[in-house]
Amino acid sequence: MTGDNAIVTGGARGIGAAIARRFAEEGATVTIGDVLRPEGEELAAGLGEAARFGLLDVTDADSWATVVAEAEAAHGPVSVLVNNAGILQIDSVEDQEPASFRRVTDVNLYGAWLGMHTTIPSLRRAGGGVVINISSTAGLMGYAGLGAYTASKWGLRGLTKTAALELAADGVRVCSVHPGPVRTPMTAEMGEEMVVGQPIARYGTPEEVAATALFIATEATYSTGCEFVVDGGATTGSRILEG
Ligand SMILES: NC(=O)c1ccc[n+]([C@@H]2O[C@H](COP(=O)([O-])OP(=O)(O)OC[C@H]3O[C@@H](n4cnc5c(N)ncnc54)[C@H](O)[C@@H]3O)[C@@H](O)[C@H]2O)c1
Repeated sequence: MTGDNAIVTGGARGIGAAIARRFAEEGATVTIGDVLRPEGEELAAGLGEAARFGLLDVTDADSWATVVAEAEAAHGPVSVLVNNAGILQIDSVEDQEPASFRRVTDVNLYGAWLGMHTTIPSLRRAGGGVVINISSTAGLMGYAGLGAYTASKWGLRGLTKTAALELAADGVRVCSVHPGPVRTPMTAEMGEEMVVGQPIARYGTPEEVAATALFIATEATYSTGCEFVVDGGATTGSRILEG
């Protein structure tokens, strides 16, 4: 990725931190955008000259404008955008408060739209690039108790395809990534029941998702508007039968 300049949202911890770390190791310059300043600054400092932290609330247009402008001033036009910031709220369709539904879709879907909306001119100045939208298996199927989250992740999958169509002529590829259960602070309270019956019956690691993001950014040159599933086989629908 030498020569690439990346922004990774929600990059202070979890999957975003693993992506930021991997991209920096592979030679990219990286802006870690997050609301978590101490964690983000510490990670950036540990990655050295290649990385910087930018305070970013993905739901705020001014915040995006500042982060993209500063990333470009520091390292040139942005060539890779990873929309990874996300929140999860467990609530039934019946019980979820309207404000809670809106907050989840604001961060997970509107935030990613705002990210593309703000960064496209910079991607064009870079002469093309890649947008990686971190969706979920909840963007491929339903989950009881995750109405707002599944709505946001299906929405992000659809938005990915539209952006891919609109940006192909500019040399910008846009793909979605669909992790299954991955051990991060987001899933800290969840138990092993989440992975029972999965063909690969364990939690994934943030590094396994980062490896897929790296592949999309560097090698997947004939892929756009499509889904990359990193889920231990969770969405195959298969179950391992005994005997
Ligand atoms: N962990 C999983 O099992 C899993 C599975 C599928 C998809 N995902 C998705 O992967 C992404 C990363 O999740 P994670 O597991 O690393 O979660 P996490 O909670 O560990 O990290 C999410 C990061 O997003 C940041 N963030 C939240 N709201 C923000 C905002 N408004 N602006 C900027 N940053 C904000 C948080 O501060 C945090 O650093 C999310 O989009 C999540 O939905 C996670």
